[in-house]
Amino acid sequence: MNHAPSRSGVLVAGSANLDFVVRAAHVPAPGETVLGREFATFPGGKGANQAVACARAGGAATRMLLALGEDPYAQQLEASLRGAGVELHIVRTPGVATGTAFICLADDAENAITVAPGANNKLRAEHLPALAGVSHLLLQLETPMETVMAYAVAAHAAGVSVVLNAAPARELPTGLLDAVAVLIVNEGELATITGVHGNIAAALKHLCVPCVIVTLGARGACARAQGKFHLQAAYRVDPVDTTGAGDTFCGAFTAALGAGLDLPTALARASAAGALATTRLGAQTGVPGYDEIETFMRSRAARTNNVAAQRELAAYCGLKD
Ligand code: RIB
Repeated sequence: MNHAPSRSGVLVAGSANLDFVVRAAHVPAPGETVLGREFATFPGGKGANQAVACARAGGAATRMLLALGEDPYAQQLEASLRGAGVELHIVRTPGVATGTAFICLADDAENAITVAPGANNKLRAEHLPALAGVSHLLLQLETPMETVMAYAVAAHAAGVSVVLNAAPARELPTGLLDAVAVLIVNEGELATITGVHGNIAAALKHLCVPCVIVTLGARGACARAQGKFHLQAAYRVDPVDTTGAGDTFCGAFTAALGAGLDLPTALARASAAGALATTRLGAQTGVPGYDEIETFMRSRAARTNNVAAQRELAAYCGLKD
């Protein structure tokens, strides 16, 4: 495989879940039972999905710190991560089950997810490995908040750039964002953190993180770095499963940063990777590799980020064009 030159290392610290997926016509409403169709398990978990995406995107050696039970689910998760080329630091949790997620995947490619964190809740501050050779630490919020906080503060103090994907949506403890160089959120997570709903530009005014990226699903992404906005229209695809698309974006984006690429290039690569991920079933099984991302971007270059797409995105974000 042809990879961009590796300049640095990414450490992903976070969750790994075995995803139990049932396909159905629609996601059940509260109190409703839906008769679904096929059932399958897939390796997942936001942290592990991001590590796989980072490794497959190329450009940065990828390691992951995770906690797993001593059960067959753990073996499936380990195999997927190692197969993608991720070096693992595993905390074993005897008597505590590996994390699991229960996913209803609807025919419109959307989903509803419930996570049973299990072993993920056992990740502690003292488990953080030495950070020598690590340029970026990628974190999410499926592990205990005090652990996320401890890792972010330690990495920041060591001169490592902390990338936080604040998912799933949770309020953040005071001081966490002071240690963060790049914050990646979707619209719901942005609203939870800032308390501002429905206006992205207004919500971003409440955050003083150096770089904030808001992923906007099929619309694209909006980034604000050093006070300047960058808009990335979405690559158009026919999605079958959006599970893990945001994670693929985060992993590919962090790999691009690790490879020393600039923000617009990193945004474009992450958007392409995220779009491709939606065209296949499963969180990690859907993650594309370096060559596929390159080929896809070349084939779609003219259709993305034309003037009309930029204007539409700017208006959606509450920005004047
Ligand atoms: O972001 C998608 C992931 O969320 C799934 O793989 C599931 O495990 C949950 O962590």
